[in-house]
Amino acid sequence: MFQAAVLTVSDRSFRGERPDEGGPLVAGLLEGAGFSVVKTAIVPDEQGQIEDALREISDSGEVQLLVTTGGTGFSPRDVTPEATLAVCQRMAPGIPEAMRYASMQVTSRAMLSRAQAGIRGGTLIVNLPGSPKAARENLEAVLPALSHGLEMLSGRPADCAKH
Ligand code: MTE
Repeated sequence: MFQAAVLTVSDRSFRGERPDEGGPLVAGLLEGAGFSVVKTAIVPDEQGQIEDALREISDSGEVQLLVTTGGTGFSPRDVTPEATLAVCQRMAPGIPEAMRYASMQVTSRAMLSRAQAGIRGGTLIVNLPGSPKAARENLEAVLPALSHGLEMLSGRPADCAKH
């Protein structure tokens, strides 16, 4: 079983002005797919604080998957993708490509998510949009393929032909 963390990026949820709906929803979807969610946190839309949280959680070695929700759009304070780019050593562009491809069947606004995915050490970091609906639709598009990637990331021999 893989361990996962969920990081909610939202000024309003961080300040307690809005309940965090996206984080618990993402955690529930991950649990339903067989992940053990061992860590959840909320940070404001501040690039430095997002980077610090991404580094701390990845470098703890506790999780193979770190999913963020929020801060991927065009608002001036949406900087989750920039924080993700700053901390990852290798990017995994196919994951956000697949999310946007699937989401475009739902809404053309899917193209407005600037979500990134990449690898820091032994952790795969995946950005999701902030609204619970968008977070669910994006995560469900890629969830079935993630564990195969995580097996490869952990150095376990993974048979790509078997699926
Ligand atoms: N993707 C899906 N599947 N469904 C959606 O409703 N909303 C879009 C997009 N991706 C959406 C979606 C919208 S309106 C925006 S602005 C971006 O995600 C970024 O969202 P964020 O700023 O909350 O991260």
